Amino acid sequence: MAEILITTPADAREVYRHKQLRQALYDAGEVVMEDVLINLHGDDHRQRRRLENRLFRRDTFYEYEREMFPEIIQETVDPYIEKGGAELVDFGHQLMMNLAALTAGVDRPLGTYEETSRLYDYLTTFIEGATLAFHTGDVEAKRQEVQEKLEAFDREFLEPGIILREEMLKRFEKGEIEEEELPRDVLLVLLRNQDKVPMNRESLRREIAFYLLAGAHTSATALTRVIHNIFKWLEKHPEDEERAYSDKVFLQKATHETIRLQPSSPTSARWANEDVELTSGIKISKGDKVIIDLETVNRDKASFGDDAEDFNPKRELPQGVQPWGLSFGQGMHACIGQDLAAGLVFDTDSTEEDHLFGLVPVAVQTLFLNGCSPDPDNPPEMDDSTTRPYFGKYPVVFKRET
Ligand code: HEM
Repeated sequence: MAEILITTPADAREVYRHKQLRQALYDAGEVVMEDVLINLHGDDHRQRRRLENRLFRRDTFYEYEREMFPEIIQETVDPYIEKGGAELVDFGHQLMMNLAALTAGVDRPLGTYEETSRLYDYLTTFIEGATLAFHTGDVEAKRQEVQEKLEAFDREFLEPGIILREEMLKRFEKGEIEEEELPRDVLLVLLRNQDKVPMNRESLRREIAFYLLAGAHTSATALTRVIHNIFKWLEKHPEDEERAYSDKVFLQKATHETIRLQPSSPTSARWANEDVELTSGIKISKGDKVIIDLETVNRDKASFGDDAEDFNPKRELPQGVQPWGLSFGQGMHACIGQDLAAGLVFDTDSTEEDHLFGLVPVAVQTLFLNGCSPDPDNPPEMDDSTTRPYFGKYPVVFKRET
């Protein structure tokens, strides 16, 4: 078995789209990821994706961004603004978890701080489960802990959510409630289609846990990195300060640029089901592992210019080049939440009123519009429990030095 490294956008696109190359990134994280959407292949994947695509449509994203998210964002950020500061890593995960819970279908009937803290504790364990390959401690002990937490999560959150939705579906079938009254979330879609695409309880549990972490962890890590990159940019470009604290489009571009340079996962990986030859001539044998080096692919000078290595929120791009590079993947596993997370590209036809900004840019905007600046007394720290480049702590204050 050989490892084939892919470093150009053309090869990467071909690998993402090739039907004989199957997901290889989550083999060590099977406790959470065994049979979740991102790990399925062929017909199994197509069937589940087709179902879930029904929810992940632009009209749903507009509804989330316009009607449901603003309140959640405000509720999450208000206590910190009142306190005058926040620790971004924790804040970002709390916020993105609140949003991801809504899309996944994880209810919090009590609505208390303790209930949210327990869900947050489950989420952090699921993240460790999915990224076990990069865990620096005792992997077996961690796997056991993740399994126990999955079962506890089921008892506390999933079970009541299923009962509630099944009752609603029955009432809907009897004509007692309208379609619009059904929750718009992954759990409902899966329960509603059990006859066509049946899933056992363990699979359902893993899928919902996966949606919670896929939505929350990627977006939360991106949030901290965007804020950091803007702070660094302003040190060198103080002339952009006004824009950073008021221009929503500038902040969305900064988000896209960050996701390009620092993709949530620096690599994608695939196993070859059979011998494959790429158009460029790269030969892959059955059983080989193909690694897409996204950090290199996304710094391609032909696409992004000579300063492709640098963070530049004012970057002008040639037609057809996506500002986030290939950070949302492509082909059958392309991120289902891309538009939800990062919005659409603001072009000459866009207006701020009608634009889909995406939840990461909206969160970045909320923080900057409230004067978020680095905490002068508490510098950021890296997370040393994983070999991935995550911030462990990132303190900010809501007081703008002018
Ligand atoms: C900054 C935010 C995000 C980034 C960078 C990101 C990145 C990615 C990437 C690279 C993939 C493809 C992986 C592969 O081909 O191996 C992916 C798939 C996926 N993402 Fe995202 N994601 C983000 C946000 C979200 C959100 C908010 C959700 C859910 C609401 C989500 C749900 C998913 C799902 C379900 C898949 C699997 C799709 C499939 O296998 O068919 N992601 N994401």
